[in-house]
Amino acid sequence: MIDLEASSIAQDPYPAYRALRAAGDVFYDRSRNICYVGDYQAAADVLRNNDISTSQGVGLEPTVSGGDGAPHNRVRSYLSPAFGAPRVTGIEERISSLASGLAERLRGRKRCDIVADYAMAIPETITAWMLGLDESRLPDIRRWNNAMLSVNRGGCPFSKLKRAIGRIAGRKPDPRNPGIAACRTVLESHLQQAGRKASGGWVTDLVAEKWKEGELSESETVDIGMLMVFAASQTPSSLIGSAVLILARDHGLQQRLRNDPQLLKPFIEEVLRFEAPVQRKCRRTTVPTEIAGVSIPEGTIVQCLIGSANRDPKMFSEPEQFRADRQKNRHLSFGLGPHFCLGAQLGRAQVFLALQALLQSIPSITLADASERTCYADNNLVRSLLRLSVSLG
Ligand code: HEM
Repeated sequence: MIDLEASSIAQDPYPAYRALRAAGDVFYDRSRNICYVGDYQAAADVLRNNDISTSQGVGLEPTVSGGDGAPHNRVRSYLSPAFGAPRVTGIEERISSLASGLAERLRGRKRCDIVADYAMAIPETITAWMLGLDESRLPDIRRWNNAMLSVNRGGCPFSKLKRAIGRIAGRKPDPRNPGIAACRTVLESHLQQAGRKASGGWVTDLVAEKWKEGELSESETVDIGMLMVFAASQTPSSLIGSAVLILARDHGLQQRLRNDPQLLKPFIEEVLRFEAPVQRKCRRTTVPTEIAGVSIPEGTIVQCLIGSANRDPKMFSEPEQFRADRQKNRHLSFGLGPHFCLGAQLGRAQVFLALQALLQSIPSITLADASERTCYADNNLVRSLLRLSVSLG
């Protein structure tokens, strides 16, 4: 019996995914009322399927990530300009100088936690820019993210997630998770101020404007702000952390990337495939449904195992091998269909600029202690290194 909710899974989910695919790709766990989808094609079909709801599974307010159909499209269309090509191109230079400055400061360190000092620092700063939060709030953004990461510690209990996030499920945040409550309180007052005077953060000012026009309610604007804190910080930092781990273990690859900068983009796509920052996306059926021949009732939680789909041998040759120059890399790491990641372009750009600066500034990235065990966040939904000690020669 494969237990995809075991707390040990977060450290290395891939053997369980392989076992699931070997047993038939889609597995309906009746006792938990969860259907796990590990096959690429079936996962892609679920992500594209408008009839399988996002709004009920994870307890999110139906704003963007947790909404369906027309209401989702409406909010998504409000947010889209904040993530389009002009916006991303417009801040590339700023990101590049942020990354170079940080990388230069780290050069020569014999031991440094690249996750805390670099992989998290860059996306958190960009999140502060997007939201117009003063950089003195950076330690708060880290605390809020850590609080979100801890919610799904050891399993996937949606009730825990709903309780912790609270307002999103129509109540006050769970006082047992003060980090999330603090995030809501700060964003509430920040968005109210932005309603009076622009904050300079392009996402905050955009949603504050929509709130003033009556297009979004106040609680929706705050929910969007909270989603941004997590979506914009956690995933790129996870990707940078995974990329640095792969590089620190392979000096030849570091050198190839320094000599051939064209390889950096396919390398990043392969890190996305190989170590998807979002390992699972959750949905819920609203009618009896069939997924790859498996019948499931209404109200079933459907877990799209993106991390498994990305290693499906029916889609990728030698999927367990990391190939920096893999071609036609159609991974599902940004999702697919109506909820395809709005920040994909921004995410790709910041990870590209972060790795480019690191490779250019640091002649050699080495694991500070090769015997140290890698340690991932105890969370089955996201794959995120908690720390990584490297020597930056
Ligand atoms: C670079 C790493 C990133 C990864 C791997 C990633 C992954 C994902 C995935 C898998 C989804 C699909 C959700 C679904 O199907 O329900 C998603 C949605 C989303 N992402 Fe990202 N993301 C990244 C970066 C970002 C950034 C930088 C932002 C900026 C704020 C962002 C904002 C969003 C938003 C707003 C959605 C919801 C879209 C919708 O439901 O219509 N993401 N992301």
